[in-house]
Amino acid sequence: MNKNIKAKIIGTGHGIPSKVVTNDDLAKFVETSDEWIRTRTGIEQRYFLDFEKGETITTIVTAGAQEALTMSGLKPEDIELVICSTATPAEWMPIEAARIKENLGLVNSAAIDVNAACSGFTYGTHFAKALIESGAHKNILVVGGDVFQNVIDFKDRGTCVLFGDGAGAVVMTAVEVKDPKTDSYVIGTRIYADLDRERSLSVTEKKPGENQYITMNGREVFKHASKGMAQAATEILAQHNISPDEVKWFVPHQANLRIIEKVAEFLKFPMERVFVNVHKWGNTSAGTIPICLSEMNQQGLLKKGDIILLVSFGGGYTWGSVLIRW
Ligand code: ACO
Repeated sequence: MNKNIKAKIIGTGHGIPSKVVTNDDLAKFVETSDEWIRTRTGIEQRYFLDFEKGETITTIVTAGAQEALTMSGLKPEDIELVICSTATPAEWMPIEAARIKENLGLVNSAAIDVNAACSGFTYGTHFAKALIESGAHKNILVVGGDVFQNVIDFKDRGTCVLFGDGAGAVVMTAVEVKDPKTDSYVIGTRIYADLDRERSLSVTEKKPGENQYITMNGREVFKHASKGMAQAATEILAQHNISPDEVKWFVPHQANLRIIEKVAEFLKFPMERVFVNVHKWGNTSAGTIPICLSEMNQQGLLKKGDIILLVSFGGGYTWGSVLIRW
């Protein structure tokens, strides 16, 4: 094993469902208001797949993966593994990652789905980094996306206003790092889990003839999410001896603006260095962080040498962090 081999992100992309649903649209069939949703969550709109147009999770994970592959400059045959992080695959089998492989013509690629709920992309990145550093694989496509529309109870105003559908992706490749203080690579990853014994964030049991729905104790989740993300951020910075001042962009899971502000305040990150797009997307679960990276890249916000800190929290509970020098 060559200790200088590290994983570098060389492509980003995201897939957008075609339907835009504003808070006012939701208020037409559930007792809520644009004002309540904006002030409690920061969300202004979300995207939903248009089932009438035949859109599925596969449509958006494929679109995000294709964009990331094109940006990477690699050929389809160069990808050796697709990791698709999702809690909402179209079916249990065939798996989503195999559908991406097929759609992109990744003839030499293996495929695996990972489910760590909203932390799925962080987990996928952790695995990809380890596999690249070990020498097992050179080029890995890591995708994250969810369609919570499928598990939302549109009669439950406490949950149905929070989520949206969306997906993003990155291509990671092996590079030989000459100067670990200046070269571009994924510096570190950390992942954590703890059983949500109280079922504060869970999906109802599968019963014949009944839909399954997400249920949530919002206040409990708020507490755990703020604490978990602060821990994941603090510990990875300490592990790599990097101070918060050195971090150019803090990119947290986009569940709720108030959670993001709380974590940023705890870590003393000014909000100008925190990337936020929850107002546009709502919570896309495993999609939030790769969508952020893709939008930031499109907007020219990611400059070579920038330190980027990604932090996630999700059902399970699962949480984690990724530290990158861009
Ligand atoms: N519209 C209008 N009123 C509402 C709505 C709504 N959509 N939802 C709840 N309310 C009402 C409640 O019924 C309650 O009314 P009551 O006082 O008459 O009983 C009132 O608003 C206050 O409800 P609370 O739940 O106390 O509101 P709170 O200020 O805690 O905000 C929220 C709720 C936004 C869900 C908050 O708890 C939260 O952000 N939790 C985190 C949840 C989250 O982000 N989950 C995403 C999944 S997990 C993850 O990705 C990390």
